[in-house]
Amino acid sequence: MPDQTTTIALFDQEPSTFAGDLLVYLIEEGFPQAAESGAAANRLLAKVQETGDFKGEKDQVFLLYPSLAALEAQPAIQAKRLLFVGLGKPDDAVNGRRERLRLAGGAIAKQACEVKAREVLVVLPKEYLLDAVEIAQCLSEGLLLGNYRFDLYKRPKDDKAPGRVERFFLHDGGLAASAVGKGLERGRILAEATCAARDMANQPGNGWTPAEFADYAKKLGKKTRLKCTVLDKAAMQKLRMGGILGVNQGSAQPPFLVILEYRTNKKYPTVLLVGKGLTFDSGGISAKPPAGMEDMKYDMCGGAAVLAAMQAIAEIGVAGVNVVALVPTTENLSGPAALKPGDIIRHYGGMTSEIINTDAEGRLILADALAYGIETYKPQAVVDVATLTGAMIIGLGHHYTGLLSNNDPWAEQLIAAGARVGEPVWRLPLGPEYRKQMDSRIADIKNAGSDRSGGGITAACYLEEFVGDTPWAHLDIAGTAWDFTEKSYIPKGPSGTGVRTLVECLSQWRPIPAADRNQ
Ligand code: BES
Ligand code: ZN
Ligand code: ZN
Repeated sequence: MPDQTTTIALFDQEPSTFAGDLLVYLIEEGFPQAAESGAAANRLLAKVQETGDFKGEKDQVFLLYPSLAALEAQPAIQAKRLLFVGLGKPDDAVNGRRERLRLAGGAIAKQACEVKAREVLVVLPKEYLLDAVEIAQCLSEGLLLGNYRFDLYKRPKDDKAPGRVERFFLHDGGLAASAVGKGLERGRILAEATCAARDMANQPGNGWTPAEFADYAKKLGKKTRLKCTVLDKAAMQKLRMGGILGVNQGSAQPPFLVILEYRTNKKYPTVLLVGKGLTFDSGGISAKPPAGMEDMKYDMCGGAAVLAAMQAIAEIGVAGVNVVALVPTTENLSGPAALKPGDIIRHYGGMTSEIINTDAEGRLILADALAYGIETYKPQAVVDVATLTGAMIIGLGHHYTGLLSNNDPWAEQLIAAGARVGEPVWRLPLGPEYRKQMDSRIADIKNAGSDRSGGGITAACYLEEFVGDTPWAHLDIAGTAWDFTEKSYIPKGPSGTGVRTLVECLSQWRPIPAADRNQ
């Protein structure tokens, strides 16, 4: 895994004394001042505004070289470059303002990369109709997420120039330093966890196997308070997890069920997270077409999101809830023992599936994990995260994650969390008319509908069979796990989506009202 992490820290001197590569001020549209503590920058900003070239509009950036404008900038600005970044007018709703700060952070990282800056100081806006913790958090997230690179397999560049910023600093800009410190720390934890999920996903199928998932979780267990258990093939055979074992039959890599537990108090309710960890999906015997098949190394993004969310939950120390994460992980290949269309498998708990299409494998491994997790940990709520269906990309494109749920309050908590962190979620229906498409003559259910209609919904109906009465939600991230909406802080390739939604949701978690359970 890439190990050069970018650091972020508070800077408590006068910003003009910062002698790094880039000094940044965030400017609200129509505001004449950069910051109270930025006397020199304010003089330059006034000059720039006279020209009309920079008004502070959304996404506007203006780079200048203070050494060339020395007389205007007294006391002299020590930084090599000065950057003004427009925030626009703070007229959008609160979630929009959070997003604007993340976008500004991403834009700064991008500019810094263009001028090869290694050390960057950002002075916070004194107010942005958000509290100081949130301002610092959202900006830190944007800076670190926008600064992400994956260059593990690239030969080092000849000019030795860093591909990314090495050190970010935040100046409180007159906000309470303790609040800024708190927000910075939270933003750092969330961004690092999201980048960890991106790293796992960027790894090719031969660099990130089921064993790598197991090792990562074991290391997390040693580094944090999380308890890690890994069920291997023999343990899963004893438990009769026919879904995971069945999908694994065509692969030479052993499968695992990775378990991480975050428990702070026995009395707290448990929330169960389940992530699809398909480290490569060829489709199996029902093979996928070759064009674009390389993207199926990303079929483990749900598992990556769940593990990375646990990492952040442990670091933040979320209160009031226990969290258990399960990642069933295997490849889906077509070796000689592979599952065949027509085969019947028996899942953990006894339910049988008739295999119609071996490419509908995600639901088979999730079925075992859901049934096992619910029976073992008796959670009050469950959420699974999976790159489950191509149909979700057809339906929602790359801009919304699909959500399907048997419980309104639980669905609403996830939708609200997604909206707060800039990962929008859209709910789709479930219903017996969809479930019927998978009626089987000789088993309890077919693993795919008789036609492709409503493919994202029928997949969720299949999963619903394994959750009983437990409040459950399914996040289909097939469209958002990679090629997610282009944004300054979302790179091309894997986005790490789901990590921040899950952590936000669990940080704000409210028990599901008893009247809404066991519907
Ligand atoms: N991993 C795929 C879903 C997928 C496809 C995710 C494209 C992202 C991009 C999943 O295992 C799959 O192949 N699903 C099938 C189900 C069908 C055979 C019922 C699909 O969506 O076509
Ligand atoms: Zn598949
Ligand atoms: Zn798949």
